Amino acid sequence: MSNKTIESSTLSFKEDGAPYCNRFNDIYFDSESGCVQSEYIFIEKNRIMQRLSTAKNNFCIAETGFGTGLNFLLTLQAYQKAQQLSKTVLVPLHYISVEKYPLTKSQLVKSLSILPQLHDFSTELATHYPEGEVIDFLPKLTASFLKNQVTLTLIFNDAEIGLSKVNSYKGIVDAWYLDGFSPAKNPDMWSKALFSQIGRLSTDQATLTTFTVAGSVKRQLREIGFRLEKQLAKGKKKEMFVAVMQSNPITTRGYQLRPRIIKPQHVSIIGGGIASACVAYKLTKQGIKVTLYCKDNTIAQGASSNSVAALYPLLHQQHDDISCFYQQAFWHARSLYDELNQLGFSFSHQWCGLLEVSYKEQLVKRQQAFEHLSSWPNNLIHGVNAKQASTLANIKLPFGGLFMPNAGWVSPPELVAQLFNAAKKTNRLKVINNTEITKIQQIKTTFNDKENTEESNSSSWLLSSKQGNFNASVLVICGGAEAITIEQLSNLPLNATRGQVSNMNTNSTINKLSTVLCHKGYLTPSNNQLHCIGATFQKNNTSTKANKDDDLHNLSTLAKCLPDLSQSIGWKTTDIAFSKARLRCTSQDHLPLVGAVPNISDHINTYPHLAKDKHWKYSEPSPCLDNLYVLLGLGARGLCSAPLAADILTAELCNTPYPVDNQMLFNLSPNRFIIRDIIKRKVRI
Ligand SMILES: Cc1cc2nc3c(=O)[nH]c(=O)nc-3n(C[C@H](O)[C@H](O)[C@H](O)COP(=O)(O)OP(=O)(O)OC[C@H]3O[C@@H](n4cnc5c(N)ncnc54)[C@H](O)[C@@H]3O)c2cc1C
Ligand SMILES: C[S@@+](CC[C@H](N)C(=O)[O-])C[C@H]1O[C@@H](n2cnc3c(N)ncnc32)[C@H](O)[C@@H]1O
Repeated sequence: MSNKTIESSTLSFKEDGAPYCNRFNDIYFDSESGCVQSEYIFIEKNRIMQRLSTAKNNFCIAETGFGTGLNFLLTLQAYQKAQQLSKTVLVPLHYISVEKYPLTKSQLVKSLSILPQLHDFSTELATHYPEGEVIDFLPKLTASFLKNQVTLTLIFNDAEIGLSKVNSYKGIVDAWYLDGFSPAKNPDMWSKALFSQIGRLSTDQATLTTFTVAGSVKRQLREIGFRLEKQLAKGKKKEMFVAVMQSNPITTRGYQLRPRIIKPQHVSIIGGGIASACVAYKLTKQGIKVTLYCKDNTIAQGASSNSVAALYPLLHQQHDDISCFYQQAFWHARSLYDELNQLGFSFSHQWCGLLEVSYKEQLVKRQQAFEHLSSWPNNLIHGVNAKQASTLANIKLPFGGLFMPNAGWVSPPELVAQLFNAAKKTNRLKVINNTEITKIQQIKTTFNDKENTEESNSSSWLLSSKQGNFNASVLVICGGAEAITIEQLSNLPLNATRGQVSNMNTNSTINKLSTVLCHKGYLTPSNNQLHCIGATFQKNNTSTKANKDDDLHNLSTLAKCLPDLSQSIGWKTTDIAFSKARLRCTSQDHLPLVGAVPNISDHINTYPHLAKDKHWKYSEPSPCLDNLYVLLGLGARGLCSAPLAADILTAELCNTPYPVDNQMLFNLSPNRFIIRDIIKRKVRI
């Protein structure tokens, strides 16, 4: 069957050899920087090489506008490079492209001849490309490349019609190259129908990049469930959109859909610790003004006031939900803290590694399981024997353990102060101390948002304190364990767990300790001639007054787990320089709560059938309190989890791509508990 309706391209060449389309009055690619531009936006920004290397199943890329095939050739090159770097055979790649006005073979060959670096791939493409006039092209070309690892399906048709013929049960496209001349030059292509095909064919987390940054494209991409951000492009192209499919309205799990919000101009935060510092830093960086309300006379007086905290992830042998979050959070934290340091906001810290000592049989078995499964890369965690452990710690240890070479310790109050200093530098942060917010009240406001009725904000918050009342259009509660008494949070399963650390004077035995040691408690290397040992865990006690019993508990835990070391150090209570007790804000499942505060009764009314069938299909998004967000439940790893959690919240408020996938997002969502309770029939329906 020939393609009688197809029209050929109207090609000419610019003086520098760049192929030019007379029909749309634009070049296919720039002769000088076209390759670099396309490689940057399509290959790099869709993270094609990384994703090919880690993909478990077939990978699929789809493109609108095949043109000369440049993007396809760059993809072949990326596949080849990724294969060379990989120890295993990569998954097969399926590349689908739709072209309404094809070039003839000779036009294609001539266009690509100015790119000698792609010569071999161009020649191979040419051998498969149809001969003759385009009117005689079959509707579809299928060809294989790179030892049949890459399949090209080239559909000669209008993008929307061509894509509508592609079968998909749950979405098949992992990455989109949205090429095609701009809507100003080619309005017909950028139709609502095209976007609905893109939505239908996209997998969860599908990425999409395009040079076209028109407002209509932004709106349509958002409507079909992409979250996007404008970034700088390379070469003559100035800007681009980088998008991720994360809020697909065609979902059967509506309760995983988070409320959509237009990037606010101003955000109020209740806090003063590491959570609020990370959020304030990230939001002010995005151009948002922030007001912080802190009940103390200075910041970092809550759990983030310990002079030293260990920075390390919570890891299990397997890649379970908890470990996957903490692994990602750990690298995120390292990268934020290093960035801050490099910007000149320095704080006491040492990335000296952390050793989880296998001081009892159960832990030896655990270490063996880690080594046997080797689920994690060596630079995250690996087993060491007693000799290696002693060398790493620079003190004699009778046990081996699990070593995290990139972990270490940090001074939370200094770090928090520097994050706030960096945020203040933007002139967008105002800190109001000595102001405890005792109550918050929702104020309903109705206004018409001309541009975006669907996303209109309708509530603000009145914050009450002894110092007066304050209005907050958007409020984020980062108040740790002390904030969980706020009425609107009473249904969130958060607890306060008291902990005490003891700061010990150094001595000649222990001053050479060169890594953080973790046993049942922990012992940090010397900082300002002090070592931190800790910490106690006590529920149902919210006193922040340090006591002697807990100091003795910290010393005896060290003595029980590492008796020889404890004896040679010889610490007595008189060696305690000072102690501190504070409250951890803990969640039931050891993961933080990041996002909008759920309206519990509305959840029960909206998703009742989950009690009968947990797979019951709901498309309704999660009902939440307008403009009220939390970043809470950082538990005993706040230094590790706060930066990633803050980035998730920032993405939420700015409507940009989340740094985590949908499953992880739901694992952190404050409404996860009520959904689980409905499923487990723990609530009355
Ligand atoms: C003993 C102990 C040892 C720990 N060791 C480690 C460790 O080694 N590594 C690690 O990663 N984590 C550790 N943690 C946990 C870590 O300290 C916390 O996870 C983290 O500091 C929590 O930060 P945050 O910002 O959520 O809360 P916080 O640091 O408690 O900050 C909350 C802030 O909110 C303010 N606030 C609260 N309510 C209100 C209100 N109503 N109005 C105005 N202001 C309000 C408070 O004044 C405070 O400044 C430890 C915790 C404890 C207690
Ligand atoms: C900027 S060029 C693409 C460049 C191409 N990706 C390359 O590497 O050469 C845009 C392409 O979109 C094609 N096109 C325009 N409108 C289209 C439509 N409605 N459906 C499919 N393709 C279309 C044009 O013919 C052109 O080949």
